[in-house]
Amino acid sequence: MNTVFLNGEFINREEAKVAIEDRGYQFGDGIYEVIRVYSGKTFTMKEHMERLYQSADKMKLTIPYELDELTGVIHELIKANSIQDGSVYLQVTRGVAPRQHNFPSSEIKGSVVAYANEVPRPLQQMQDGVTAKLVEDIRWLRCDIKSLNLLGNLLAKEEAVSEGHYEAILHRGDTVTEGSASNAFIIKNDEIVTHPATNLILNGITRRVIQDICKRNGMSFQEKSFSVDEVLDADELFIASTTSEVMPVVKIDDKEIGNGKPGSVTKKLQELFEERINKG
Ligand code: PDD
Repeated sequence: MNTVFLNGEFINREEAKVAIEDRGYQFGDGIYEVIRVYSGKTFTMKEHMERLYQSADKMKLTIPYELDELTGVIHELIKANSIQDGSVYLQVTRGVAPRQHNFPSSEIKGSVVAYANEVPRPLQQMQDGVTAKLVEDIRWLRCDIKSLNLLGNLLAKEEAVSEGHYEAILHRGDTVTEGSASNAFIIKNDEIVTHPATNLILNGITRRVIQDICKRNGMSFQEKSFSVDEVLDADELFIASTTSEVMPVVKIDDKEIGNGKPGSVTKKLQELFEERINKG
C-alpha cells in the first residue's frame, strides 16, 4: 500500500512531501473527500466528486484537474494498492504561496493529494450500536463546505471519545445539527427525521443514499430540524457517514434510546444499505 498521488505524480508514500507554505497546511485553506471502497470498487464516487467541485466553487478554489481526471486517479490508486475494503482520501488546497490571508494570484496552482487505505467496515459496532455525547456546535456557519478546517469538529469528537463515546452529536442551542463527522437522524413513530441540508450541516452522501432508500421503499423521511429533547425522547437514533455507514446510537449521554438496543427501523435501513453496497 505504497503508491500515493501528489500534484500529478504517482509516487511512494514515503517520498510524498508537502511544502511548509502550502495554504492547506497554514490555514486549512482547502477541501477534501473520503470515498468508500467495497470489494475493490468505489461507492457513490460520482456524488463525492461532484460535491468536491461544489465545495471548491463555494470557496473560489480552482481544482487543477477535470473531474474525470481525478476520478481516474482514484481508480488508479485503488488498483495500484490492491484496495479491497477501504477508503480514498482526496484533498485539494489553494496551493503554495508566501503567507498572507488574502488569496494568492490565480497563477498559483492548487495542491492535490490522494491516497488509499484498507479500512475495515465497523461491523461489530453496527450490530451492537454505539454511544454518543451531546456537545454544543461551535463551528462556523458554512458547514455545507467540506473544508479542511475541522477544529470545531475535532474538539467535539475529542471530548466525546475521551469520555468513551463513539461520536459527538452537535446542537446549536436547542437545535441538533449533525454528528462531528456524520449526519444525525432520529426515528419517532416510524418517521426518519434529519436536519435540512442548509449551511449548518454537511449534506452527506450517505444521508442522500438513505433518503433515496426511504423514497424507494415507502419509508417516511423528513428533512426538518429537531431539538435535544426530541433526541432524548426518540424511538431510535442513528448517525451515518461514509466510514460509519448506518450506525445505531443506543445511548446518548446517560440516556438510553428506546430499549438501549438498535431499533427495527435502523436495522431495516442497514439491510437496505447493504443491498445498495452489493449492487455497487
Ligand atoms: N466525514 N457531517 C460531517 C461533519 C462529516 O464530517 C461527514 C463525513 C458527514 C457525512 O458525510 P458523508 O456521508 O458524505 O461521508 C456529515 C468524513 C467521512 C470524514 O471527515 O472522515
